Amino acid sequence: MIPAGVNSPVRAWRAVGGDPRFIVRGRGAYVWDADGNEYVDLVCAWGPLIAGHAHPEVVQAVSNVARRGTGFGAPTPVEIELAEAIVGAFASIEKVRLVTSGTEATMTAIRIARGATGRARVIKFNGCYHGHSDGLLVRAGSGAATFGVPDSAGVPPEISRLTSVAEYNDVESLRAALAEDPPPAAVILEPVAANMGVVPPAPGFLETVVELAHRAGALVIFDEVISGFRVARGGAQERYGIHPDLTCLGKIVGGGLPVAAVGGRGDLLDLLAPTGPVYQAGTLSGNPIACTAGRETIRLLTEGAYDALEAHGARLEAGLRDLIRSAGAEACVQRVGSLLTVFFGVRAVRDFRDAQATDADVFARFFRVMIEHGVNLPPSPYEAWFVSLAHGDAEIDRILAAARHALAA
Ligand SMILES: Cc1ncc(COP(=O)(O)O)c(C=O)c1O
Repeated sequence: MIPAGVNSPVRAWRAVGGDPRFIVRGRGAYVWDADGNEYVDLVCAWGPLIAGHAHPEVVQAVSNVARRGTGFGAPTPVEIELAEAIVGAFASIEKVRLVTSGTEATMTAIRIARGATGRARVIKFNGCYHGHSDGLLVRAGSGAATFGVPDSAGVPPEISRLTSVAEYNDVESLRAALAEDPPPAAVILEPVAANMGVVPPAPGFLETVVELAHRAGALVIFDEVISGFRVARGGAQERYGIHPDLTCLGKIVGGGLPVAAVGGRGDLLDLLAPTGPVYQAGTLSGNPIACTAGRETIRLLTEGAYDALEAHGARLEAGLRDLIRSAGAEACVQRVGSLLTVFFGVRAVRDFRDAQATDADVFARFFRVMIEHGVNLPPSPYEAWFVSLAHGDAEIDRILAAARHALAA
């Protein structure tokens, strides 16, 4: 009844072979499938579960709220609490609107930028994914790349023509894209790219993007759907000390339930209806159960939490590097905080062209041995592995033991 049996294509195991496991339960760093097998989970719902599966405080808070009603189509106090947590964490966010998915957040950010500038063209980077809205589904990284389709059928060329593509970490290609006609409304990017595997911004790259975009009269949109509350409490913009005009958040802000956000300069957010002329709406926007899960998850993200995420990410990286070296495998590990990817067959990945040179067949074989040894990895060579607060030394040891087998194989 369901195409390929999945409700989002990356859940299918097309890139690694075999059938996806149906998951029935999760707790901490572990998930169990319908056949009763246990796995250390490095998917973590593709990023939202920074506190691990079914965190007791999140579950308790969500249950309490659900008993009082699941949503009202009217403002609720918890929306203000979540907005306060976001505005408090992100120096560049003065106002925020809550939406339901990361796709909506980026779509709305683009519409605000177009409304603010009166311009239509948008610049994105090859291999960055910003959700599946028509205009952004151009050279969009992991999902499409996993299936070998750079752009989606069904997107009219009239729409994709409004999107120009530059290469990540390549200032000259951005300069060229900015100089094209008509002038650009916005430059959108993942400040830590995580949809072509994890690719950190080269030193100075983000500063240059902001400077060149502003000089061209374009707004800068940081898509921090993955990196927000992940690589630092205040996202990549805190970690690298650079402020965009607009920021998109998702995943962690919903704590595993559907909430996302677009935030930024107050004058830009005030362009949204009903204050301004840029329309955006949503039946479930700011749903109180989802906002509660987000608020509780963010509450768990203390300074100590980021130290732990960094330490466990570093330990996993170091362990994998050692194993790769002693196995004589050609592979590299790229990490930012608790986001990490092992790329096979290459020495370093700076952009999507490098990512495409990785050996997908070797990754597929690695993946299959990992799952046989009880480690659930994202089923694609172009995805980030997500370490959560629930991944302690015991879990890292299990991952490394499985990786030893996989690299030997
Ligand atoms: C950076 C980035 N932006 C946007 C999105 C789209 O978010 P959603 O899947 O919630 O629509 C994703 C999803 O993975 C993402 O990684």
